[in-house]
Amino acid sequence: MLRRLIPLLIVLACAPAALAQQRDPAPGRRIAERDCASCHAVKPGDVGPSPVDAAAPFQLVARLPSSTELALRVFLRTSHAGMPNLQFTEQEIDDLVAYIVSLSLPQK
Ligand code: HEC
Repeated sequence: MLRRLIPLLIVLACAPAALAQQRDPAPGRRIAERDCASCHAVKPGDVGPSPVDAAAPFQLVARLPSSTELALRVFLRTSHAGMPNLQFTEQEIDDLVAYIVSLSLPQK
């Protein structure tokens, strides 16, 4: 069982950037502009300052090596100091993560 899972885990670990490239970041951007922009700088290329100093611009969040898709997913499901307890559907989390990850790709 475990032996069959390992290749899958490797693929999952390497896939985020590739997957995000195929996903349309537009819906996530709309959610970010609606729910996150009051504190974070959310637009592509916007490196801040954010409306709330402690809230990192998404462009910078996207470039952190620690910002894997998985980490962002976990983050968006848990509440954090200074952040409202937003509840998202799976689809909204997919969209938001796709958008944030898309910011780490070279901007056109
Ligand atoms: C009310 C203000 C506020 C709103 C709205 C908000 N955030 Fe935040 N966010 C913060 C603050 C403040 C921090 C820093 C918290 C900390 O370091 O503990 C933060 C941290 C984060 C981080 C971690 C950044 C890092 O440095 O690793 C992510 C990712 C994030 N927010 C995503 C979002 C997303 C996505 C939304 C919209 C769905 C959102 N936030 C909405 C205030 C906000």
